[in-house]
Amino acid sequence: MTPIGVFDSGYGGLTVLRALTASLPEYDFVYLGDNARAPYGNRSYETIYNYTLQAVTKLFELGCELVILACNTASAKALRTIQQNDLPRIAPHKRVLGVIRPSVEAIGEYSKNNHIGILGTHGTIHSQSYPLEIQKLHKQLEVSQEACPMWVSLVENNEHNDVGADFFVHKNLTNLFLKDPQIDTLMLGCTHYPLLIDKIRKYCPPNVQILTQGEIVSKKLIDYLHRHPEIDRLCTRNGVRKFYTTESTDIFSTYAEQFCSQKIKAIHLDL
Ligand code: DGL
Repeated sequence: MTPIGVFDSGYGGLTVLRALTASLPEYDFVYLGDNARAPYGNRSYETIYNYTLQAVTKLFELGCELVILACNTASAKALRTIQQNDLPRIAPHKRVLGVIRPSVEAIGEYSKNNHIGILGTHGTIHSQSYPLEIQKLHKQLEVSQEACPMWVSLVENNEHNDVGADFFVHKNLTNLFLKDPQIDTLMLGCTHYPLLIDKIRKYCPPNVQILTQGEIVSKKLIDYLHRHPEIDRLCTRNGVRKFYTTESTDIFSTYAEQFCSQKIKAIHLDL
């Protein structure tokens, strides 16, 4: 089996996997959540790079030819180094893709007034990856960003539906809209954040459109596979989904089942 690998620090990438499996139901997918070491967002460049490379290497060992980093923090901090320095050495024919570039390509289609807001982890926001990439593709856009360092922890600890989460969502959105009250399009630049979407809607001005990455990334992946038949040909299509976590498999399975609406028996692995 040659599944498409989907990696995240924890549960957030499941929001991307759900969209990928809906768009490409016949393809095989393997998901790896490094829940034991999540969140990555406040960690150093070296740590995020090392953890991400370990995960990518493991997914290659599990048979993947193509790995999607369904994690903005890993995409911001580790993707380029892995693509440029590691792949030519460890697996020159395999491919690793991230979620920032496809999100930035899509973002230009949405805003009416060219005022964009980006929410992400500390690592993603301070890497400046979004403003730098947006500047290359959509010079007309004015970008404001806000790091939301608590939000991933709320999701990883299953606290995102509780009232305590309202405090942090309200606080970070207030900060963002103070930076630019004209924002009409908000990109959730972290794959965990769609789990907070109800609270995000509650504290966002009603005219703001909120973009999540699942559909954007799956559309871009379909396009990528069309443009790269040599990779597409290698991906097997038996509709298989496998789930690996570096943490407790029971907790992961229960949680992931809520997302994916299917019975899941996760497998433990160490990185
Ligand atoms: N889902 C990851 C992202 O998109 C969260 C990273 C973290 O663990 O902080 O950035």
